[in-house]
Amino acid sequence: HWTAEEKQMISNIWSKIDVPTIGGEALGCMMVVYPWTQRFFVDFGNLSSASAIMGNPKVKAHGKKVFTSFGEAIKNLDNVKETFAKLSELHCDKLHVDPVNFNLLGDVLITMIAAHYGKDFTPACHAAFQKLTKVVAHALSRRYH
Ligand code: HEM
Repeated sequence: HWTAEEKQMISNIWSKIDVPTIGGEALGCMMVVYPWTQRFFVDFGNLSSASAIMGNPKVKAHGKKVFTSFGEAIKNLDNVKETFAKLSELHCDKLHVDPVNFNLLGDVLITMIAAHYGKDFTPACHAAFQKLTKVVAHALSRRYH
């Protein structure tokens, strides 16, 4: 289901990304823009304002972890379901994350990438990343299906 161009665009952009920075920003931004998602992270400490969230070291560390994991999907584009089988069990069976939230985090990720890569983030790149975040969200919510 992936064209050679899509694969090329995705790995090209991902290789230019500083995953800890973008990851921390994306996770923090999710909590700011979609505040109900904060309830999963109450033990992360101070989430009392947008700047507290964006500066919170636990948010940064977890964002790095989440998006390093997201990078595994990019390395295994033809095998995302299997790659995330265990993570799907964790998020569905143990954490009970509503699957719509996977898409929300994906949208925020795209926003952060676009904000950093501006002109290089073409409509075709956007479309490829939109497809990727959908595939990842679907794989993560597989245990609910
Ligand atoms: C933990 C990945 C989306 C909530 C994790 C872990 C990874 C991960 C790798 C660590 C697992 C471990 O320690 O073994 C992802 C990916 C996502 C995603 C790739 C989508 C792109 C979400 C969303 C939420 C969420 C949308 C909630 C709104 C959590 C929570 C934990 C967790 C609460 C446990 C945190 C802790 O250590 O206390 N996730 N995640 N995740 N995730 Fe996700």
